[in-house]
Amino acid sequence: MSWLIKVPATTANIGAGFDSIGVALNLYLSLKVDRSEKWEFVPCSDGMDELPRDEENLIYQIALQTANQFGHASLPTCRVEMTSDIPLARGLGSSATAIVGGIELANCLLHLNLSTEVKLEIATAIEGHPDNVAPSLLGGCVIGHYDKKLDCINVPIHDLVFLAVIPSFQLKTKEARAVLPVEFAYKESVQASSVANVSVAAICQGDWGLLGKMMEKDHFHQPYRKALIPHYDQLVNLLKSDVYGTFLSGAGPTMIALTTKEVVDRKLKEWQAYMPEMNWLRLEVENKGTQTIQQ
Ligand code: HSE
Repeated sequence: MSWLIKVPATTANIGAGFDSIGVALNLYLSLKVDRSEKWEFVPCSDGMDELPRDEENLIYQIALQTANQFGHASLPTCRVEMTSDIPLARGLGSSATAIVGGIELANCLLHLNLSTEVKLEIATAIEGHPDNVAPSLLGGCVIGHYDKKLDCINVPIHDLVFLAVIPSFQLKTKEARAVLPVEFAYKESVQASSVANVSVAAICQGDWGLLGKMMEKDHFHQPYRKALIPHYDQLVNLLKSDVYGTFLSGAGPTMIALTTKEVVDRKLKEWQAYMPEMNWLRLEVENKGTQTIQQ
């Protein structure tokens, strides 16, 4: 028996939705799983060579943790071919895809029949916040609140381009979280949450102009993290007059502009010529979430 598990990338925060809003995008981690005599993780895409090929692999670790949680001491041994077009440590949810892939792997191998709600709870407990794992599992945009239990709303998004601008350097989430403040004054937190509240309303109504405006008024993380992204202001200013808005994707360093196909067709070449050192990727929302096919 073999399985194909396809997990979408994500962009988290979307401005002020820090740790609580995320969107699935059409880049994927795919796992081709076949029973074998020993555990083997085989990298099949560029940039994956550094990943552990044995039980040290994060996907295996998560699968084993999930198995243990449901009373299984071990997992049947497998060969897992890993294919991915998600850049690592760039703020596009690559580690969340490994977490979701690991849970799905245990679910298949041990016939756990986990519901989506249970998978969401396990994944969010591991990650600590739902903004990457929830859209990766469900697809579309997910707005979630986690406090030992997860409450979330899934909103599909259509006809919007997420233009990702990916620099060549990596930024570890731990480093990008270390620059955030420990405390927030009451008055500022009221302002900050009003920006987040309007962002959510804008997403639900598809008011991308308003969302774009709110993204740039975020108090929670972008004002602190922009110091880690040397080209932050230059990029925002370059795109400003043509896109709805630009935000830091997850913990960065990728930045994403919300825009339309028509704008990208008209402007992309010009922008690429201005910042050729960046990898410009025109992405769309994946509304389906994680797909598992038994072969
Ligand atoms: N919400 C998280 C952050 C996403 O911005 O740190 C990355 O894990």
